[in-house]
Amino acid sequence: MNKEILSLEPMASFINTCHEGWLKGWHERNGGNLSYRLSKTELAPFLPFLSLEENYLPLNASLPFLGEDFFLITASGKFMKNVSKDPESNIGMVQIHPDGNAYHKVWGFKEGAHPSSELLSHLMTHAVKKEKHPENSCALLHAHPANIIALSFILPLNEELITRELWEMLSECIIVFPEGLGVLPWMLPGSLELAQASQNLMKRVNAVLWAHHGIFCAGSSLDLAFGLADTIEKAAEILVKVLSMGGKKQKPSHSQLLSLAEKYQ
Ligand code: 13P
Ligand code: ZN
Repeated sequence: MNKEILSLEPMASFINTCHEGWLKGWHERNGGNLSYRLSKTELAPFLPFLSLEENYLPLNASLPFLGEDFFLITASGKFMKNVSKDPESNIGMVQIHPDGNAYHKVWGFKEGAHPSSELLSHLMTHAVKKEKHPENSCALLHAHPANIIALSFILPLNEELITRELWEMLSECIIVFPEGLGVLPWMLPGSLELAQASQNLMKRVNAVLWAHHGIFCAGSSLDLAFGLADTIEKAAEILVKVLSMGGKKQKPSHSQLLSLAEKYQ
């Protein structure tokens, strides 16, 4: 394998993000997945390393808006822990058919590996993010952080309530996700229904709680998607501690939260 490709950006950062997520404890076994849409400028240095044979595989969706786009994505059933040791076996790059209803593997996915089973959730959300900001790249991280999952068993699955609880826990939150946290009930992992419901919420927010399963976070860079997941999980951890210590005795007021939002727009 030509190792040069591994040092190109955003490949190097993609591999590093997988490892950082593993170190955080968000990716037991094959839990979670990561994807990244490359901009045209980012793609150029990769072209000599890609195999562009047209062995297309069907997508269970039509995404013409992503036609010809290239994505880095983790492989299904592979462990985040192993990505940095053997990227070619554990992640890969795909290109979407010009018609948007199929994809082909252009790099990685060694020995018959396939893109994540959440491919549709990733691609359908990439489509809405690209529509909003066609000039930006986009990273999507699905992780299984323990505290936010735990809270989804305790708190009512109400978007406004969960958002407010997290905003109260950490002043960073209202600045990092002022649009709030989308909330979905448990849905079948890897299903079209989960992908459609996530896509719908992602038109408005950058993070969705998949109750009893994990979170799905978007950012215009790998750092921003990772940082969003990290902020949500940190606030969730504080809330779990507060609830375990008998609950809140005091908290920032509504007007204090509003003043934070206003100061940081
Ligand atoms: P994959 O290994 O197919 O990416 O699935 C992991 C996961 O977390 C599904 O929700
Ligand atoms: Zn998952």
